Amino acid sequence: MNAIDLFAGCGGLSRGFMDAGFNIIVGVDNDQAALNTFARNHNGAKPLNADLSKQETFDEIKRIAGEREIDVIIAGPPCQGFSLTGPRNFDDPRNKLYLAVLEMVRQYQPKGFIIENVPGMATMYDGQVKDEVLHRFRNMGYNIECKILCAADYGVPQIRKRLIFMGIRADIGIPKFPEPILDAEHYITCREALDDLPSRINELGAEEDAYTSEPRTAYQEKMRGNCTTLYNHVATAHKQFVIDTIAQVPEGGNWRDLPAGVGESRKFNEAWTRYDGNKPSKTIDTGHRNHFHYQYNRVPTIRENARLQSFPDDFVFTGTKTQQNRQVGNAVPPLLGYALGRVLCEIIEGKHHE
Ligand SMILES: C[S@@+](CC[C@H](N)C(=O)[O-])C[C@H]1O[C@@H](n2cnc3c(N)ncnc32)[C@H](O)[C@@H]1O
Repeated sequence: MNAIDLFAGCGGLSRGFMDAGFNIIVGVDNDQAALNTFARNHNGAKPLNADLSKQETFDEIKRIAGEREIDVIIAGPPCQGFSLTGPRNFDDPRNKLYLAVLEMVRQYQPKGFIIENVPGMATMYDGQVKDEVLHRFRNMGYNIECKILCAADYGVPQIRKRLIFMGIRADIGIPKFPEPILDAEHYITCREALDDLPSRINELGAEEDAYTSEPRTAYQEKMRGNCTTLYNHVATAHKQFVIDTIAQVPEGGNWRDLPAGVGESRKFNEAWTRYDGNKPSKTIDTGHRNHFHYQYNRVPTIRENARLQSFPDDFVFTGTKTQQNRQVGNAVPPLLGYALGRVLCEIIEGKHHE
């Protein structure tokens, strides 16, 4: 089945869909650095650098898709655009990014679609924005539901909650969210995800390097697959005060565990957070200053964050470190994408087999 990925970023969501058997035709984003990573990791999918708030972008997508049927649309629109005062202002030009998804679904009438957002979108304006999205797609002939899913339930070593809209064309069926594959007691932990990777305490490492041990857990084996080069595992050279400060935070702790007078420059919620090796990580964000390795006195490398996001080791990130962190932090974990892709396949193919 063919899919189009809107607001594709580096392609975490589409990597999951690829693994579930979808053919990604084009990934659209206006961040060239993210698209370079997308191109490197999505064989055959065309990266399109274009602004989805512009009409001409739809024409360009149409040119690339050609005569092919588009079975599924997947999208992760940023929701900073919701600067409205209520759902009646939904057509406000500032909401163009969400409207772009509606417009693409209207044009292609795909069998199904997935939209990913932060959980806060569900309660924005007392839920009126979410209700307006549901209403508009229902009016276009889709059965649509939304639910907040937690990535850890699908085998991702991270507590990451996201609001997922699933739409199924009314003649095909009804939405069904994937069943969790793990309960909270069996979530994959940071240690299970990372402890086969070199410590990087005596050297920073290189963008292309070698593994120094065998995988120790089923998750590590799965992430390595057939990969024999260790990519993007480069440590940050911290200032001594950062090393000295984080050294005083116990596993699972944060700035509140520091003695008075230490680490005072950062005191907000997530500051000086050290992961707990026996739990999944907190939500990976696009910055790279506040979360630290459960054991070592440094922030996680790109590869470590990629592992916590369930990117396989052969998924290579390109660009500056800031760009790579943004790509990893913005992404839908591929294993969550995979679970969504599989369920969408079942719903659509179930219809075909009738
Ligand atoms: C949350 S990220 C999407 C992550 C992606 N779904 C993944 O799984 O890797 C949102 C993306 O929207 C892109 N974006 C923001 N405004 C845009 C616009 N006007 N046109 C196209 N892309 C845009 C950003 O560059 C960013 O990569």
